[in-house]
Amino acid sequence: MQTDVRTAPGTISSAPAPPSAVGGTRPATPPPPASPGFPTVRLRRLRRTDALRRLVRETTLAVDDLILPLFVAPGRGVREPIASMPGHAQLSLDELAHEVREVRDLGVPAVLLFGLPSRKDPLGSEAYDPHGIVQEAIRTVKEHAPELVVMTDVCLCEYTSHGHCGVVEDGYVQNDPTLELLAQTALSHVEAGADLVAPSDMMDGRVGAIRRALDAAGYADTPILAYAAKFASAFYGPFREAADSAPQFGDRRAYQMDPANAREALREVELDVAEGADLVMVKPALAYLDLVWRVRERFGLPVVAYSVSGEYAMVKAAGQLGWIDERAIALEQLTGIRRAGADLIITYFAKDVARWLGA
Ligand code: PBG
Repeated sequence: MQTDVRTAPGTISSAPAPPSAVGGTRPATPPPPASPGFPTVRLRRLRRTDALRRLVRETTLAVDDLILPLFVAPGRGVREPIASMPGHAQLSLDELAHEVREVRDLGVPAVLLFGLPSRKDPLGSEAYDPHGIVQEAIRTVKEHAPELVVMTDVCLCEYTSHGHCGVVEDGYVQNDPTLELLAQTALSHVEAGADLVAPSDMMDGRVGAIRRALDAAGYADTPILAYAAKFASAFYGPFREAADSAPQFGDRRAYQMDPANAREALREVELDVAEGADLVMVKPALAYLDLVWRVRERFGLPVVAYSVSGEYAMVKAAGQLGWIDERAIALEQLTGIRRAGADLIITYFAKDVARWLGA
């Protein structure tokens, strides 16, 4: 039988107040502590100096683990700041060329590209146009910083006039007709030179559909990073300004996951693995660290956590107000995401971290 702590009301509050050790007077003879190990066992011994702490540190945060998202827009000389994401901007291709050289020089190994098309339509046709904005951006990165791993977000929401991630009929996002467009989009990215594609739409069966399309076109070696457990989250708010991808009616809850569901998230991951995903993602990161951990424990493939725009914006805003120490908080959060089990982190702090860690 389980003991229910609630059957002993007031246990905690009725306990005698402990003597204050902070700023108060110590009792003349301290009572023997209850710990069975103490005084032989003292965990503080390994915390005494920075060098000791470094030796016993369990989790590392390195620039090698980070992926930087970038937003690419039409035009020339465009570097349009994103108000809710200080330090980030929509970049035209010429500005992207400067940016990716800097990213490469800082040691960040990978970028994740998002595109703002010059026109939108109900079927999101610029998403799979061989000369669409992302396809050109891929070529630009490959030309100016060929060492970078170029990842692309595969989705229709930035390209559709209604802002949903798939084909809309009767006010509903249709799953199966969307698969064909997603596969075409992924293939067009790989043909333009993308090293890896990352479907973020949450249609059922899309990893398999993309895998088949890539294999049939001779790209059996191109990996897929599945946004496997992607939740319908308010933390995407700033991104939708950045990528101009807010749904024009309704919301995404009929395809992205309910934030309350963990078992279902594990099923999503299991299915994406079965369909051929090479890496799996949990998104957002901070409010979903339990899932990062459970996915890490249960599956053998690399786990990626996406620390999304809202997570970035909150730290930036509070930092700018002087309410928190931006750098310390960002590093602590990212370390926490790694400690929870993420192998890789997609973060808008990637360049900052590279500078902070002196990479
Ligand atoms: C596209 C997509 C979104 C994000 C990544 N890919 C937005 C959404 O699903 O509405 C969010 C990323 C972020 O907030 O940083 N579907």
